[in-house]
Amino acid sequence: MLHDAPAIRRNVLAATLAWSAIVGGSLGWGMYGISQESLKLAQYEANAYIDKDIAFRNWATAHGGVYVPPSEVTPPNPYLSFMPDRDVTTTNGKHLTLMNPAYMLREMQSRFSGPLGEKGRITSLKPLNPGNAPDAWERGALLRLEQGAKEVSEISDIDGVAHLRTMRPFGVEPGCLKCHGQQGYKVGEIRGGIDVAISLAPFRDIAGRAQFKLATGHGVVWCVGLLFLGVFARRAQQRQTERALADEAIRQLNEDLENKVRERTQQLLAAQEALVRKEKLAMLGQVAGNVGHELRNPLGVMSNAVFFLQTVLPQADDIVKEYLNIIRNEVAVSERIVADLLDAVHTREPSAETVNVRELIEQTLRKYTVAPSVSVQLNIPATLPPLRVDALQIQQALRNLLSNAVDAMPDGGTLEIAALENRSAGTITIHVRDTGTGMTSPVQAQLFQPLFTTKARGIGLGLVVVKNLIQANGGNVQVESEVGKGSVFSVTLPSAPPAGETP
Ligand code: HEC
Repeated sequence: MLHDAPAIRRNVLAATLAWSAIVGGSLGWGMYGISQESLKLAQYEANAYIDKDIAFRNWATAHGGVYVPPSEVTPPNPYLSFMPDRDVTTTNGKHLTLMNPAYMLREMQSRFSGPLGEKGRITSLKPLNPGNAPDAWERGALLRLEQGAKEVSEISDIDGVAHLRTMRPFGVEPGCLKCHGQQGYKVGEIRGGIDVAISLAPFRDIAGRAQFKLATGHGVVWCVGLLFLGVFARRAQQRQTERALADEAIRQLNEDLENKVRERTQQLLAAQEALVRKEKLAMLGQVAGNVGHELRNPLGVMSNAVFFLQTVLPQADDIVKEYLNIIRNEVAVSERIVADLLDAVHTREPSAETVNVRELIEQTLRKYTVAPSVSVQLNIPATLPPLRVDALQIQQALRNLLSNAVDAMPDGGTLEIAALENRSAGTITIHVRDTGTGMTSPVQAQLFQPLFTTKARGIGLGLVVVKNLIQANGGNVQVESEVGKGSVFSVTLPSAPPAGETP
C-alpha cells in the first residue's frame, strides 16, 4: 500500500528534520548576521573616534601647536626643551608654554576618555616619550603598518575584556622633521600610529538581546511548524485508516456476495436433485409398491418351506444341505430387496427414543456377518451422549452402509466405524470408512439417486433407503471418496438433549 503507517511516520520524521534544518539554518544565519552587524557598529564607532582625534590633531598641527598656561597637569614639555620659544611671557606678564599636537592629544585622550570607555593612544616603535611606547598588540600593528597596511583592526583582550582595536598610521611629513628630524626620520616613513580600543561588551549586550529575540521568534515559528506537521500527520493517518476500513468493507461485501451466489447455486442444485429424486421415487412408488407387496407373500412362503425342509431333513447329504442354504440365503436377499423397495417408496414415521451410540453400532454389527478378510475397527468415545432416533431405522441405514463398505473391499481391507460429537450443533456424526475401491466424483454425485447402481447385482435402492431413513430421523448423510483409497459415509444425527433438559 502507498500510505502505510511506517511510510507516514518516515515522511513526518523527514519533514520534521527538514523543517528543523530550515529554522535552525535561518537562526544560525540570523545570529551570525547580528554579531557581524554589531561588530560593524563597533568599527564605525572606532573610526569616528579616530577620525575625531586625527581632526583634532590636524587642527593643532595646523596651528603648529598651541600655547597654554603651564600647570601641574600640563607642565612644559621636556621633549621640547630644545625649542627656544617653548616658554613665552605675554605682554602683561602671563606665562605660556607650547603644547605640540601629540602632547595635546595625549592629554585629551588620557583625561577625557569617551562614554563607552574608549581608549585612544598615539604610539611609535621609536617613541620620543617612553610613555608612548607600544603595548604588545600595538607593536604588532605598527610592524604591519610599516609593511604598508592602511589600517589594522582586530579583536583583542584588554584586562580580560574583548576590545575592538583599530590603528592608523602617521606618516612623516616635511613639517614633522622640525621636531622629529633628529630621530633620523625621512619624509614618507611611518612615524607611528594612532589607535583606539572600543570595548565590545555593550555591543555584545545589544547583539545578545537581538539574538535572544531572534531565537525566541524562531522557536515560536518552529513550534507552529511542528504543530501543523502534527495535525497533517494525524489527518494523513485518519485518511489512511478510513481508506483501510473502506477497502475492508468492500472486500467483505464481495466475499458476502460470492458466498451468497455459491449458497444459492448449491440450493438450486440441491432443489433440482431433490426434484429429480422425488419424481423418480413417485414413479417408482407406483410400480414398486405393488410389485413389492405381491412378492412379499411368495417369498415368505418360500422361506418357510426351506425352513421346513431343513428341519425335516436333518440327515440329508451335504449337497442337499448346501443347496438348501443357497436357497435360504437367496430368499433372504430377495426379502431384503423387497424390504428396501418398500422402504424406498415409503418410509415409516420414526418413533424416536434415546439410544446409546455404541450399542446401536454393536447391534448392527451382530446382525451382519462381515467377510473374514475385512477387519473391523470401532472408534467410539465412551463420553458420547446418546442419540435421539428410531433405533431400528438407523440400524437398517447403518446396515446398508456396512454392506456397501464390505462390498467395496472384495480383496479385504479395514472397515472403520467412528463417532464424533459436535456439542455446539447438538449432533453426533458416525463415519463408516472403508479402504476399498473408492468412487469417481460423477458416481458420487448420483449416489443417492434412485435406481443408480454400480453393482452387478442390486437395483440401486440401498443408499436411497439410507438417505430416506436418516432424513426421516432429522439427520443427513454425506460421502467423501477417492478412487483406489476408499470412501467415507458420514451420518449426522441429532443427539439427545442432556438429562434434565426437556427435549
Ligand atoms: C613642535 C614639535 C613637533 C612637531 C612639529 C611634531 N612633533 Fe611629534 N612629537 C613631538 C614631541 C615633543 C613628542 C613627544 C610628546 C609627548 O608625548 O610628550 C611628539 C610625539 C609624537 C608621536 C608619539 C610617539 C613618540 O615619539 O612619543 C608621534 C607619533 C608624532 N609625534 C608624530 C608626529 C608627526 C607625524 C608629525 C608631523 C605631522 C609631528 N609629530 C610633528 C614634537 C613634535
